[in-house]
Amino acid sequence: MINFDYYMPTKLMFGPGKVKELGRITKQYGKKALIVTGRYSTKKTGLLNRVIEMLKLEEVEAVVFDKIESNPLTTTVEEGIKYVKDNGCDVVIALGGGSAMDAAKAIAFMAINEGDVNDYIFGKVGIGALPIIAVTTTAGTGSEGDSLAVLTNPENNDKKSIKSPYIYPKVSIIDAELMTTLPKHIIAPTGIDVLCHAMEAYVANNSNPMSEIMALKAIELVKENLVKVYNNPNNIEAFSGLAFANTLGGMVIDASAVALAHGMEHPVSGLLDITHGEGLAAIVITWMKYSYKGSAIKFSNIAKALGEDIDGLTHIEAAKKSIEAVEKLLAALNLTKSLKDLGVKEEHIEWLAKNATKTMTYSIGNNPLIPSEEEIKSLYLQCL
Ligand SMILES: [Fe+2]
Repeated sequence: MINFDYYMPTKLMFGPGKVKELGRITKQYGKKALIVTGRYSTKKTGLLNRVIEMLKLEEVEAVVFDKIESNPLTTTVEEGIKYVKDNGCDVVIALGGGSAMDAAKAIAFMAINEGDVNDYIFGKVGIGALPIIAVTTTAGTGSEGDSLAVLTNPENNDKKSIKSPYIYPKVSIIDAELMTTLPKHIIAPTGIDVLCHAMEAYVANNSNPMSEIMALKAIELVKENLVKVYNNPNNIEAFSGLAFANTLGGMVIDASAVALAHGMEHPVSGLLDITHGEGLAAIVITWMKYSYKGSAIKFSNIAKALGEDIDGLTHIEAAKKSIEAVEKLLAALNLTKSLKDLGVKEEHIEWLAKNATKTMTYSIGNNPLIPSEEEIKSLYLQCL
């Protein structure tokens, strides 16, 4: 029986050159824009200045908050909240990768809602947000297509999302021309993040017919384009394919959520400030080996989407092929680091498993097989 709800109110503007529309779009939502961006890359590429010029042409005033780090902190967001209020901005532009977009969403949200951002991360419901326009410069988190903002609390290293319908961007611009300057060491892990979003949401207990279609398409697009982009970032057609997979990945985790791979990764990047996608690359195979028996048909569909020949195989045999396919992909992207190589030590595991069960309860419960805290410890050990 088909039975589901689906909601995604963001207007997606997808295609090379679409960023030129940003001034006109922003003007529809406000007169004074806060541009939230990272400290370096949008300055280095000249994009930040281009955006300010575009806004000026449409008589939209721009102020810049350029303090966003990777794994954005709740304390940085608090600074941004003060900044947006002090400057009287009425629209927020998220300019950058997942970190800039997530921080921008949280700032736009907290500009309207009273109190401590941490309370909203742990379930307090808000009343609104300033309008958000997202311009993504990476094919990574899919934040342009979801209602999530992942933040890390530096006091206790909890890395967890605000999830609110108010933080869907009003408009998201996905322009692959903005992505061709990305270095390989960002393309590879962000691409694996996309793949994990799609695979986890696809096999999730909370999947639905809409998210399943989009997730399988995203997996196919990753297979078709990620290595091409990694080997030649100027391949704009392949980058468009990967960017589309990324947006679909955001939409599917919005609808069906991530599962155990993210459930295990967030505590790692929360504790050690490593790159999210590198953490996932170190966890994904262990996650698949643990989970495939809980959803053999879906993992066999993943194998097929990743280009494996599964003809004549049982579901279990075909499901195993999905693991081989991801191993090949990781090798092609030179993503060979274990959690140990990324700085995780055996003595961290107790904390990681505890933190996973505390902050990622929903994601862990969303996995086709649900591990106990003891089993999570043993899975972390296998990733070392
Ligand atoms: Fe992710």
